[in-house]
Amino acid sequence: MSTDKKIYQPNPAFAKHAAINSMDAYWKLQNKAIEDYEGFWKKYADEKIDWLSGYDKVLDESDAPFYKWFTEGRLNVSNQCIDRHLADKAHKTAILFEGDRGDVEEITYALLSLRVNKMANLLRHEFNVKKGDRVVLYMPMIPEAAYAMLACARIGAIHSIVFGGFSAEALKDRIEDAEAKIVITADGAYRKGKPYMLKQVVDSALEEGGESIEAVLVVKRNNEEINWVEGRDHNYNELITSQHAECPFEAMDSEDPLFLLYTSGSTGKPKGVQHSTAGYILWAQMTMEWVFDVKGDDIFWCTADIGWITGHTYIIYGPLAAGTTTVMFEGVPTYPDAGRAWKMVQDHKITQFYTAPTAIRVLHKMGEDEPKKYDLSSLKVLGTVGEPIDPPAWKWYYETVGNSNCAIVDTWWQTETGGHMISPLPGATPIKPGCATFALPGIMAEVLDYQGETKNDGGLLCITKPWPAMIRNIWGDPDRYVSAYFGDVSKNGTPIYFSGDGARVDEDGYITIVGRVDDVINVSGHRMGTAEIEAAVKKDDHVAEVAVVSRPHDIKGESIFIYIVLKEGHINKDIKNHINELLANEIGNIAKADHIIEVPGLPKTRSGKIMRRILRSIAKGEEITQDISTLEDPSIVEQIITSAREA
Ligand code: PRX
Repeated sequence: MSTDKKIYQPNPAFAKHAAINSMDAYWKLQNKAIEDYEGFWKKYADEKIDWLSGYDKVLDESDAPFYKWFTEGRLNVSNQCIDRHLADKAHKTAILFEGDRGDVEEITYALLSLRVNKMANLLRHEFNVKKGDRVVLYMPMIPEAAYAMLACARIGAIHSIVFGGFSAEALKDRIEDAEAKIVITADGAYRKGKPYMLKQVVDSALEEGGESIEAVLVVKRNNEEINWVEGRDHNYNELITSQHAECPFEAMDSEDPLFLLYTSGSTGKPKGVQHSTAGYILWAQMTMEWVFDVKGDDIFWCTADIGWITGHTYIIYGPLAAGTTTVMFEGVPTYPDAGRAWKMVQDHKITQFYTAPTAIRVLHKMGEDEPKKYDLSSLKVLGTVGEPIDPPAWKWYYETVGNSNCAIVDTWWQTETGGHMISPLPGATPIKPGCATFALPGIMAEVLDYQGETKNDGGLLCITKPWPAMIRNIWGDPDRYVSAYFGDVSKNGTPIYFSGDGARVDEDGYITIVGRVDDVINVSGHRMGTAEIEAAVKKDDHVAEVAVVSRPHDIKGESIFIYIVLKEGHINKDIKNHINELLANEIGNIAKADHIIEVPGLPKTRSGKIMRRILRSIAKGEEITQDISTLEDPSIVEQIITSAREA
């Protein structure tokens, strides 16, 4: 990907005070982990976690790949994120909230404590939510979403956040899979100066199913009129006032699930990625300190939505565990204009800014010189996540946003990894643009083939040792956990975690992420399985067969490209609209296709397997170099190329 051969050295003034301040320091740490893996992790677990009672084993591999960390230890994540900071940070801002309309609220650690305790009492006493119960959050980006997450953690309930852009059908599926007891939502919120509504999606989801739900707790944010189901729906704003200000936290086991987060895989329905308590929170805090180098009075802003893993780890858990100030933003960075994000950086003196390449490309396109109108001198570290960043976007981010002073941390990780895995360290790593560089200390990343042999010129990105923040299971489906992550690659008979991504390693040991090698596509940093999209398209009565691939897109990184074979007749606007409507209803607006083309047939092998690689190449406009002689009907390829050209 990288055409820019220049290597960008860390800013020496910054490096002087950085947590990891040179490549020597990096290698020292990494070698320590290689020599004594458990000793390495023990040091940090002892240093960073406020144990209520100690653990007996650092890593238990006896039931691999169901790894356990810090077994028998007891802790509570809301204590890690709140209570333990109260002695010296009670008056420090924990959450700096900015609403879409510019309203700002500074929530100190003391106030956060009060609100989380009250919400925990509300859940525990009014709704009988107990340790281990599942709570679905379908929330906008408002502080109450953070209170709800931390309140669940406090009482040991397992939250499962469903991104507010997902449809009623997708919400219903997730509620049912998790067998959740309660949904916490809001009437709606504000976006681009206008109210938008969420509660109606919950109503539709529960009309269709979701029978495990006993109550819906509704935060009133925009006070627009909403439908109200007596007996089921409860008003948070009214109930919260009478709650007791103290709620003792549960002593959770290290391995108790902290949350579920559904994500797409290459087959079947989205899977409930299950994260642990101790290992997850440990790594969330460590990566804040290493990768973002937060300290002192830093103001950290991650622009993700809490509905994604980035929002979990780097808006809520990581920053708060590290005792920093985290910015939470309700709106979009392009409203009221392309300077909104930069104005926020200036107004709040933001020190670390973390966003996705898609957002960088949009902001770049909308206002090349916009950052220059603001004082961005507070910035120290710029981060990116979710998809490969292209050199023009990288360069603009570095030069215009960062004034060639800030390190860019291109962080590679996944919902399943809990936190960053491969990333530059801002005070240490000489950066090659577009390259995620090195595995963080303690993380053993290798690029292998299916037999576990090194394949640095292009292979499968694997993590060869378990790590504390790793996925523990797929909710209710341990077999799928094993097959999805440990089923493809093994070394000397030991199954190895395979990420689904392809990567390569250059002569200096730098890792570059190439993209997914499975049937998962990444639209604007949002991960979607082609199988899910295909299942939705098949619900259209005209469709006989369907295959979904991605096509490169200037802003979104990838867009959805759908090939359909019709039962009869020809494609028209109505069919296309209906297919997109189905995608919006079944999954959400993010799943709408940019291209839907009709083809006479799909390229299949004699055994009936669709050759997606050919379809991918055609969607990209590439020449077909693959051997097509094994196809059942090789002539179909030429016909598909013609249809694609005409579309
Ligand atoms: O393909 C990789 C891509 O995003 C996938 C993970 O998606 P998700 O679980 O939704 O989490 C996104 C936020 C952590 C990965 O398998 N990806 C993530 N970060 C990068 C990336 N691709 C290239 N460079 C990155 N920095």
